[in-house]
Amino acid sequence: MWFLSLPLLVLLFGIHATLASGVCPSDQHSLLVQLHNSLEFDQSKSTKLVRWNFSADCCEWTGVTCDGGGPGHVIGLNLSNESISGGIDKSVAISRKKKLVTLDLSMLYRPGVPSLKLEKPNFATLLQNLTQLGELRLDGVNACANGNEWCQALSTSLPNLEVLSLSNCFLSGPIDPSLAKLQSLSEIRLGDSLQNASLKTLVLSYTNFSGILPDSIGTLGSLSRTELVDCKFNGSLPISMANLNELVYLDFSYSTFSGPIPSLGRSKKLMYIDFSHNQLSGEIPSTHWEGLLNLAHVDLGCNSLDGSIPSFLFAIPSLQNIHLSFNQFTGRVPNIPGVFFFGYPGFE
Ligand SMILES: *[C@@H]1O[C@H](CO)[C@@H](O)[C@H](O)[C@H]1NC(C)=O
Ligand SMILES: *[C@@H]1O[C@H](CO)[C@@H](O)[C@H](O)[C@H]1NC(C)=O
Ligand SMILES: *[C@@H]1O[C@H](CO)[C@@H](O)[C@H](O)[C@H]1NC(C)=O
Ligand SMILES: *[C@@H]1O[C@H](CO)[C@@H](O)[C@H](O)[C@H]1NC(C)=O
Ligand SMILES: *[C@@H]1O[C@H](CO)[C@@H](O)[C@H](O)[C@H]1NC(C)=O
Ligand SMILES: *[C@@H]1O[C@H](CO)[C@@H](O)[C@H](O)[C@H]1NC(C)=O
Ligand SMILES: *[C@@H]1O[C@H](CO)[C@@H](O)[C@H](O)[C@H]1NC(C)=O
Repeated sequence: MWFLSLPLLVLLFGIHATLASGVCPSDQHSLLVQLHNSLEFDQSKSTKLVRWNFSADCCEWTGVTCDGGGPGHVIGLNLSNESISGGIDKSVAISRKKKLVTLDLSMLYRPGVPSLKLEKPNFATLLQNLTQLGELRLDGVNACANGNEWCQALSTSLPNLEVLSLSNCFLSGPIDPSLAKLQSLSEIRLGDSLQNASLKTLVLSYTNFSGILPDSIGTLGSLSRTELVDCKFNGSLPISMANLNELVYLDFSYSTFSGPIPSLGRSKKLMYIDFSHNQLSGEIPSTHWEGLLNLAHVDLGCNSLDGSIPSFLFAIPSLQNIHLSFNQFTGRVPNIPGVFFFGYPGFE
């Protein structure tokens, strides 16, 4: 389950660009002409719509992609950065392009500057029949919908979606669990240009999300609980995690993260840290964990951490469990009255 309202969250991946040409069928041609005529756009800034030549094959128009075989279908529509304003209410030309694989209406978001607005059709209606869509980019388009509406529209209409980019779309959270139905989803962008991202809980456990955890996680200043258990992420943990001041619960266990553990000294509210069963290495400098006076649970077991045993942890009064086993720490566990150690090399 994910809960969110408009943070910057970017999860990466490959994009399949389908480029081919075909012959534009007349119904597709007239739908595009209809769309063109219904859109309000700034002629002086347009580089695509302004060049559409209605006498030519629509598959050759800038921003239009057709598939190669047979009579040709319009499978891609890219009107990004076309300074479109107003609505697309006079035409539902886009929602009738059932073969669309790519739809990009993204535009540069400038606060106060009118942008394309999804009202009639709204977000859900626009996408209703676009069941083939693999890539949807509506950045900067005013889609204004709550978590329930936009997530369910995506999950019921777009089963093949791989890439979703909806930054600055005036969407609000929480993210509805139905989004988990989108099994092919590999890239999600849901940012906004407000400084204060309000995502509080990020749970991506037991998913196949892979690649590098993006630096932008550090912009989620309200993040309090993050669980990435048994994901396919690899590479280093972003240093930007040091900015997560509100973090309370952090479980990144059973993944394939490598490299050092970033400084968490500013996350003073941290109570629970689990980095166990990764491939983390390096030392744990005391300065990285200074002042974490709420820590109750620390599990760093089954990694390749080295340097001296982080004995400063044992001095944190709130600490109840500490697991450091199966690492390459050196030195002795400090002798603390009332603390019992079980077994070796594991101890608790
Ligand atoms: C978008 O359009 C503006 C002009 O309206 C132009 O300055 C800018 O370079 C364009 N950006 C992209 C990515 O094409
Ligand atoms: C538009 O396309 C037609 C048919 O291909 C062509 O004859 C004509 O020159 C084109 N017009 C412009 C302005 O490019
Ligand atoms: C749409 O066109 C722009 C150039 O105007 C390009 O940067 C962008 O990658 C294209 N989008 C897709 C999904 O191919
Ligand atoms: C989607 O397709 C159905 C059945 O063909 C049609 O009745 C409906 O109007 C379409 N919706 C849109 C928004 O075009
Ligand atoms: C961000 O949050 C801080 C503290 O909660 C608040 O003072 C500030 O006005 C917020 N900024 C924006 C752009 O909402
Ligand atoms: C992850 O991928 C594996 C192998 O491709 C597949 O068996 C598994 O069902 C996937 N898990 C999820 C949660 O999609
Ligand atoms: C992460 O995994 C990908 C794909 O499995 C691989 O290409 C890449 O080299 C890995 N990166 C690291 C730092 O291990």
